[in-house]
Amino acid sequence: MALNSINPTKTEAWRTLENHYKDTQQFNLRKLFQENNQRQKQLTIQFDDFKVDFSKNLISQETIGNLLSLADAVDLKEAIEKYFSGDMINVTEKRSVLHTALRSNSEDPILVDGKDIKPQIKTTLRKIKTFSGKVISGKWRGYSDKQITDIVNIGIGGSDFGPRMVIESLKYYKNKLKTHFISNIDGDHVYEVLKNINPETTIFVIVSKTFTTQETITNANTIRDWFLNSATVFDIAKHFVAVSTNTKAVINFGIDKKNIFPIWDWVGGRFSLWSAVGITVSLALGFDKFKELLDGAEKMDIHYRTAPFEENIPVVLSLLSIWYNNFLNCESEAIFSYTHYLKYLPEYLQQAFMESNGKEVDRNGEKVDYQTGTIVWGSVGTNMQHSFMQLLHQGTKIIPSDFIGFEKPLHGDEEHHKKLMANFYGQIEALAFGKTIEEAHLDLKMAGHIDAMARLLPYKVFSGNKPSTSLIIKKLTPKNLGMLISMYEHKVFTQGVLWNIYSFDQYGVELGKELAKKMLIN
Ligand code: F6P
Repeated sequence: MALNSINPTKTEAWRTLENHYKDTQQFNLRKLFQENNQRQKQLTIQFDDFKVDFSKNLISQETIGNLLSLADAVDLKEAIEKYFSGDMINVTEKRSVLHTALRSNSEDPILVDGKDIKPQIKTTLRKIKTFSGKVISGKWRGYSDKQITDIVNIGIGGSDFGPRMVIESLKYYKNKLKTHFISNIDGDHVYEVLKNINPETTIFVIVSKTFTTQETITNANTIRDWFLNSATVFDIAKHFVAVSTNTKAVINFGIDKKNIFPIWDWVGGRFSLWSAVGITVSLALGFDKFKELLDGAEKMDIHYRTAPFEENIPVVLSLLSIWYNNFLNCESEAIFSYTHYLKYLPEYLQQAFMESNGKEVDRNGEKVDYQTGTIVWGSVGTNMQHSFMQLLHQGTKIIPSDFIGFEKPLHGDEEHHKKLMANFYGQIEALAFGKTIEEAHLDLKMAGHIDAMARLLPYKVFSGNKPSTSLIIKKLTPKNLGMLISMYEHKVFTQGVLWNIYSFDQYGVELGKELAKKMLIN
């Protein structure tokens, strides 16, 4: 069954939130903390290795209560069940949305068109395991009988961002195989990669759900021609594999049937990392780590499906997002990771959020008269502190931010980590509490700037009250990364339910593609 179609703005809960916003525009974080010394404790959710502190948001308990009523008013609980059970919730494309099934360890069947999809998922996982095991161990040989040293992932969008982000995030756990990613149709991107690899020792993984994407097919053709400069068509089977739903097109391209890893219609491109699209991850980290990633994602799935909404991390994060987007008129949200390993996370999440929820038509086919998808962006701390953070601290915009930090560094250098995390907490404090005119005055006085006092004082004030949520995770492990990605995936879904839009199609990317084709002909 499809999701219910409820215009959120027509609910009683929405009106209550509007009134609540009018009454409480003057949220003052300093005051809220002074008035309630239990605020941080009360507004923190602890789950597994995650501690999510949302106390520095512009909310009160009443705001949360009102937002929770909105979740009920749009039948969120029922929507979540439909999502996990394989109901056809991607109505425009007539598909189920079942990336969660890819990481499910439960024996319960999940039916699509009356057929349990679990067996095919298991078979594919076994195939990924066998293949990556052979390549990593050196059993799989190239055409000149040499061991494989390099893997090139050729794909774009969801067929690139996920594996690339995960491998970068978990490179601490990586084996000796070198991984490369080719996505852009820009030939220079292709040749820069080719100049560093040897065809005799490289496997090319062509990842394209449709196997029609212009970028991927053009790049794959160029690479096959380059490969055939030194090898023969009979060697393709040892060096080219594909991940696709379009078996016919893959075979026509010349790839051996045995080397095709299937994905299915019910896996959306931007949620496909958990399928065979993650094969490069399994090659780079080993299958066991890939499986740990899936298991972590499942942990968050179970939390999302079963935890009461007030203790449910993805639900609370989504409700906050609606609060900022629709009531405080914030246009964007930022994600700041205090680990260099997560440098590709914002770009990955941009596709997840913006391709999913950048919609202006609701589930009734009506144009919406309220704001939907937020602009998502971000970077890593501390680099970003020396870049755009000035605007967050003293600019005129409110940009709610997620700060992601880890209790332990991977290489064990506590000295660096102490400084890194001091910056993490320093930024959050500065954003939330700012610096008053009295404090700025005192600082200038202490620094001996009495003469310049009047001139400098206004510029030294930080108004504060800038919202942020902090996520402290024990350690960056495959399991915890899986949980983190899954948490944001569920935030995408929840937002879509709340905004009454279809999150799982992406017709908005089509027009540009069509016009590019026309330009080529003219
Ligand atoms: O950008 C549109 C899109 O369809 C994405 O949703 C998808 O991840 C990407 O293109 C790649 O598609 P494919 O895997 O079919 O090549």
